[in-house]
Amino acid sequence: MSVTLSFLLTFLALSQAQPHSDDPPPPSSTVCIVGAGIGGSSVAHFLRLYSPDSTPAANIRVFERNGVVGGRIATVTVAGETFEAGASILHPKNLHTVEFRKILNLKVKEPRSDSFSLGIWDGNKFVFKTVKLSCDVPVLDKLLKLPFVNSLVSLVNSAFMFVRYGFSLFKMQNFVESAVERFLKYYEEPGSRPIFETVDEMLQWAGLYNLTTRTLQDELVDAGLSTKLINELVTVITRINYGQSVNMSGLGGAVSLAGSGGGLWSIEGGNWQMAAGLLNKSDVALHLHEEIKSVADRGDYYELNSTKGNSYKCEIAVVATPLDELDIQFIPPISIPQRKLQHTHATFVRGLLNPAYFGLKAVTKIPDLVGTIENPNLPFTSISVLKKYNEKESTYKIFSRQPMADTLLDSIYSVRKETIRINWAAYPHYHAPEIFAPFILDKRHLYYVNAFENAASTMETSAVAAENIARLILSRYFGKVIVHSSNLSASSQEEGTHFDL
Ligand SMILES: *[C@@H]1O[C@H](CO)[C@@H](O)[C@H](O)[C@H]1NC(C)=O
Ligand SMILES: *[C@@H]1O[C@H](CO)[C@@H](O)[C@H](O)[C@H]1NC(C)=O
Ligand SMILES: *[C@@H]1O[C@H](CO)[C@@H](O)[C@H](O)[C@H]1NC(C)=O
Ligand SMILES: *[C@@H]1O[C@H](CO)[C@@H](O)[C@H](O)[C@H]1NC(C)=O
Ligand SMILES: *[C@@H]1O[C@H](CO)[C@@H](O)[C@H](O)[C@H]1NC(C)=O
Repeated sequence: MSVTLSFLLTFLALSQAQPHSDDPPPPSSTVCIVGAGIGGSSVAHFLRLYSPDSTPAANIRVFERNGVVGGRIATVTVAGETFEAGASILHPKNLHTVEFRKILNLKVKEPRSDSFSLGIWDGNKFVFKTVKLSCDVPVLDKLLKLPFVNSLVSLVNSAFMFVRYGFSLFKMQNFVESAVERFLKYYEEPGSRPIFETVDEMLQWAGLYNLTTRTLQDELVDAGLSTKLINELVTVITRINYGQSVNMSGLGGAVSLAGSGGGLWSIEGGNWQMAAGLLNKSDVALHLHEEIKSVADRGDYYELNSTKGNSYKCEIAVVATPLDELDIQFIPPISIPQRKLQHTHATFVRGLLNPAYFGLKAVTKIPDLVGTIENPNLPFTSISVLKKYNEKESTYKIFSRQPMADTLLDSIYSVRKETIRINWAAYPHYHAPEIFAPFILDKRHLYYVNAFENAASTMETSAVAAENIARLILSRYFGKVIVHSSNLSASSQEEGTHFDL
């Protein structure tokens, strides 16, 4: 959007808001947020951003059952170095998180400098392998150096991929780009963008809803992709990003494939710092180690009781964590559609892979990223090198649907010095058609950020859902017109250039 136009919109919005300053200020109210992940912290951030003058005067309390913030964004430390253990990568068009990084003054992590190779393992052999490329074409070189597993889609540019998958690769890219393009509608000026009461409505407005009614497989077949590409590369990617097959919904699948433009990024020292920084900036009372066990509607307010025996009075309550595996008592009871979470086991190993496991003679012949196809006998989803110390030692990250037993690890590794296991209730198990829980859990002021997670589960989609919830709260409770112009479209271009060069 041009500078002139956004200036004009800001001006219009400000003039609209003028009459409101004459209204009596609403009495001080409390917003209670359950969960200090990126969703909860983003709700706090957008409430403050869209009410910079502190009218309405709202207190914000954030409850977190763990001793740290970040939720499913967390790091693990292996041999003194930190690695992302949960949500690990961001897309250059993730405009809210791009903005968070900027306002919080966080550093983008330097891409890894060694080269990157991919192999697709079917349980008996590698059906596809790229050779290690240290390419002298700068753009390709940069893509190959990305530390992230998603960057494998960037290998679309590689001749090896083309030989195997042909023009289907470009059809895949078009499919993804069209979904990303539609998603950008959520960054349009708040003044001209509706506030959505349901996820269905929000997805329909952007033209994304249909993608949630069919499987990724069906969408890709219609888009003209070859069976080979769907069963191999696409499957590898959906398994790595969501632990699931191409039977997942088309929208989740498109988001999973959205690494194709390159420029994926993460935050030096850990992405969780976004949640920490937003909370720190948003003037909230943060209650760590305090789990909410009941939310009771008392008419004018909600009563939130915690496992510490405390009771809090909140005019507005926001659930910013998946309810699927929690045992919060709602009075009166709420009813939301059944949803299963997909568990992903992340296992970090410092040691050395055993080439014999892969039928190879030397460890150097094993690709840096071993992806897998759907085969019920495969005990893991992917194995990637996170850091190579020397010929005898690396740190690896394994994803699997089941825990990795010691005996299994001992067959895959010839040396194992350190092993760390994390069982994530990582994201929804996607299916088509998706059925969405409501954003508004009762008819009053009880909200649910994670209703949007059935569309797609990422740090950015949490922020997008949180922004909508903040606007719902401001308009439904405080009767406030949102006047803020956030300049997101302008900043996106700068960032895009920055990352692509
Ligand atoms: C979604 O599907 C419906 C029914 O098939 C169709 O009428 C509509 O045009 C589709 N919307 C988009 C945005 O593709
Ligand atoms: C996808 O779903 C179909 C129908 O339910 C099933 O036959 C097939 O095995 C599934 N494919 C995968 C890869 O899970
Ligand atoms: C919180 O923000 C203040 C400045 O607003 C900064 O000095 C401080 O280091 C921040 N704390 C954390 C934990 O980020
Ligand atoms: C919450 O705690 C208050 C104060 O201890 C108590 O009166 C109330 O009954 C509790 N509510 C629920 C739902 O347990
Ligand atoms: C939008 O951009 C203009 C020009 O760069 C700047 O003056 C203004 O403060 C920005 N507004 C916001 C809300 O960031």
